[in-house]
Amino acid sequence: MRSHPEIPARMQGVQDPVIPIVGEWIRDNPGTISLGQGVVSWGPPPEIYSGIAAFREEPDNHKYQLVQGIPQLLGCIQSKLAVDNNIWVRAQERVVVTAGANMGFMNSILAVTDPGDEVILPAPFYFNHEMAVRIAGCVPRVVPTDENNQLQPALLAEAVNERTRAIVTISPNNPSGAVYPEADIRAVNTICADRGLYHITDEAYEYFTYGGARHFSAGCIQGAGEHTISLFSLSKSYGFASWRIGYMVIPPHLMVPVKKIQDTNLICPPVISQHAAVAAMNAGPTAFATGIRALAGVREKIIRLLAGLGDKATFGPADGAFYFLLNVRSQQKPLELVRQLVERHKVAVMPGTAFGLEEGCQLRVAYGALSPENALEGMGRLVEGLQALTD
Ligand SMILES: Cc1ncc(COP(=O)(O)O)c(C=O)c1O
Repeated sequence: MRSHPEIPARMQGVQDPVIPIVGEWIRDNPGTISLGQGVVSWGPPPEIYSGIAAFREEPDNHKYQLVQGIPQLLGCIQSKLAVDNNIWVRAQERVVVTAGANMGFMNSILAVTDPGDEVILPAPFYFNHEMAVRIAGCVPRVVPTDENNQLQPALLAEAVNERTRAIVTISPNNPSGAVYPEADIRAVNTICADRGLYHITDEAYEYFTYGGARHFSAGCIQGAGEHTISLFSLSKSYGFASWRIGYMVIPPHLMVPVKKIQDTNLICPPVISQHAAVAAMNAGPTAFATGIRALAGVREKIIRLLAGLGDKATFGPADGAFYFLLNVRSQQKPLELVRQLVERHKVAVMPGTAFGLEEGCQLRVAYGALSPENALEGMGRLVEGLQALTD
């Protein structure tokens, strides 16, 4: 029998995505409510169909188009960046449309690192970021956040060494729901400027803030343009997850390397999705305002439900995205607790270990994917399950 060649050590070091593991348990336990997946319940606004009609009118749309994105979409993004993010750029020089923010991240890592370089990830991190760093042959340098899941700029600065190429921040955060204050984002951006690093900011949840929390884009800081890579996505806000459209704002000197990478991986972002994105962005944030308002209501109710757990499960302020990160009083391994929650209580969440949280027993709860009724039903089961399964 022939054996296959060895899987390279680089790939063996990449964590197995945990979503399919939990997904299998969900399938084996019909009726389970999933508070696992980080998606929203709504789809794109109906306006996208006029974009698709425009796509159909032009036979050349079936051919490859520009690596960087179609000019109409670059134009929409340029205006949006100015109005919503206070980032004033010429899209031709600074913006690349990607097949989602994940691709923007992979493009960024490949463009700014050599194999063996280090990339600083505050923990908890988004698992695909850590995976991308390892896939690129680089080393994730994981730096803890504080007890409220907030950045610790002094620790980030201490973690910089001669191999460090970038610091990554995600705000609003997956998996904690934390929103970083402007001052901390500025502090990280300054560390990057002073130490010759890139600041990669993932802003996929920019519109998902609640109460008094405000999203702040590092890309608007004066002088940030030469070392800041800002990643955006239509997946969450416009309900575009399967359409695969995001974009990156990059320093002008990275345009050539990023285009080389994207040309090799993708050639061009799917053109039909880009036309749909033009129509969606022309509809603007009112297209998803109702959805986010509904999430704000669900979030309030969840906070009240979780309070019933007292010190069995605590959580930091989660003023953004659609996540809570629970610190559960349990000796169990988080993945084992997740399995028991699915099997005995028919509710699924994600283990904190997937996000680099090796200590204690932490669980991520996502409330974006379900109708408010189902999300609250799932939360009820979770609270009941944690009452039963914790110490
Ligand atoms: C922080 C973060 N960035 C990026 C993504 C993926 O976004 P996209 O669908 O645009 O690739 C997610 C999805 O969960 C996310 O949580």
